[in-house]
Amino acid sequence: MVDPARVICDSSALIEGGKGMRFSVLRDGKPIPAFVIRYNGGAHAYLNQCAHIPVELDWIEGEFFDSSGLYLICTTHGATYEPDSGHCIMGPCKGQRLTALEVAEIDGKVYLTHSEKNHG
Ligand code: FES
Repeated sequence: MVDPARVICDSSALIEGGKGMRFSVLRDGKPIPAFVIRYNGGAHAYLNQCAHIPVELDWIEGEFFDSSGLYLICTTHGATYEPDSGHCIMGPCKGQRLTALEVAEIDGKVYLTHSEKNHG
């Protein structure tokens, strides 16, 4: 399903390895929580659902990175994800991945361009 592009936030709101911005996408007419973070200069967005159990990753709103700022971490059981691929490298769902969403940065704003994204 293609969503019309929409603005999630200003690019300046996303700090490298810092707080993420929460938003939602519609799936089957229902709002599903999602988030976007900045890593290696790029914006990366995912559904806010752990691959282990589909709970939100952040207990403290917007805190998706671990203390190193290099990995995303689920606060429930500690699943650790690569920020740019959503691939789980450690924890109970190792080998699985977050559901990625397509985003683009245009003229200082972060846009949701598609509600699903495939990683080959
Ligand atoms: S719910 Fe995320 S690691 Fe278990």
